[in-house]
Amino acid sequence: MVDLRGRDFLKLLDFTPKEIEHLLKTAVKFKKMKHEGTPHNYLKGKQIAIIFEKDSTRTRCSFEVAGKDLGMGVTYLGPTGSQLGKKETIADTARVLASMYDGIEYRGFEQTIVQELADYSKVPVWNGLTNEFHPTQMLADVMTIKEEFGDLKGRKLVFCGDARNNVGNSLMVVCSKLGMHFTCCAPKALFPEEKLVEECKKICKETGGSVTLTEDIMKGTKGADALYTDVWVSMGEPMELWEKRIKLLKPYQINMDVMKNAKKNAIFLHCLPSFHNTGTSIGKEIFEKYGLKEMEVTDEVFESSHSRVFEEAENRMHTIKAVMYETLKKQ
Ligand code: CP
Ligand code: NVA
Repeated sequence: MVDLRGRDFLKLLDFTPKEIEHLLKTAVKFKKMKHEGTPHNYLKGKQIAIIFEKDSTRTRCSFEVAGKDLGMGVTYLGPTGSQLGKKETIADTARVLASMYDGIEYRGFEQTIVQELADYSKVPVWNGLTNEFHPTQMLADVMTIKEEFGDLKGRKLVFCGDARNNVGNSLMVVCSKLGMHFTCCAPKALFPEEKLVEECKKICKETGGSVTLTEDIMKGTKGADALYTDVWVSMGEPMELWEKRIKLLKPYQINMDVMKNAKKNAIFLHCLPSFHNTGTSIGKEIFEKYGLKEMEVTDEVFESSHSRVFEEAENRMHTIKAVMYETLKKQ
C-alpha cells in the first residue's frame, strides 16, 4: 500500500519505484477525469503557496490549474514582491508559510534551498525545479513515454546535450528507478557528476535499468525509444556561456539524421521551452551573434510526427495534480 501523505517531493531519489508508479497511476486517473469533465475538487478548503524565483510557464500554470481543479486556493509568489531572500531567510519563510498553507511549491536555485524550506516546513514542499533536479517534469516525461508504448521497463531513453543539469540529472534518476536504459550523449565536460552516476548505477542493479555515458551521438542514439534534449544554457546561468556551450553542444543537436538513427517509431521529447527557431528574443539574439537558427533541436524534428512535446507539456498538469493530491489527501 503506497501512502505519500505528508511527504515532501524534492527529488526522485527519495522515492521507490512503486511510489513513482503510484503517482503515475493517479495522474492517469486525473487526466481521464479532466478530459471527461468530471469534477475532482477533493482538496476543497486547502491553500497552497507557489514560490517562483525563476521564470515559468508550464510549472506555474500546472500548479495553479491543478490546485484549482482540486478545489484549493493558490497564492503565487514571484521573484519580486515578497520578503523571501532579501529580508527574510528561507527558514523563517518556511515557518510563516507553513502556518497559513497546506503545501508549498518552490522553484529556484540550489537544491539545498528547497531542502531547507522542507526542513523548516511542517507541510509538504514540492520542488518545481532547482539547479540540480526537476522531479515533477520527470513524471510527465515517463507518463508520455508510457502513453506511447504502453510500458516503461526496458525502454531506452537518450538525452543529448547539457547532461549535468536539472533535467539531465533527473532523467538519469527516473530511468534508473523505473528499470529503463538511460544514455547520455554529451561532451565529457558536461557529463553528469560521477557521484550521481554511481548512485544511479547502483539503483539499476536492483531495477534492471542501465546508465551509459558517451560522447558519440550516433552510437548513443542507436535503437532509442525516446530522444530528449534541453536548452544549452539554463536559467540562472550567464548569457556569456552561450558561445562556449554552442561550441560544445552543436554536435549534440537532435536533427533528422539523429532522429532517424533511433528506432523507427521513436519519439522526441523536450521539457520546453525550446530554441528550435528564431521566434524568441534570445533565439534572435543568438542568430544575430552566432548565425544559428535552431539550437538543441531542429525545427524539422520539433514539428515532426516523432514529436510529443505538447502532450508532454499537458502531462505536467496531470502529474503535478497527482503529486499534490497524494501528499495532501486525508485518507
Ligand atoms: N518545463 C518547464 O519546467 O517549463 P517552465 O519553465 O515553463 O515551467
Ligand atoms: N534546464 C532548464 C530546464 C527548464 C525547464 C533550465 O533550468 O532552465
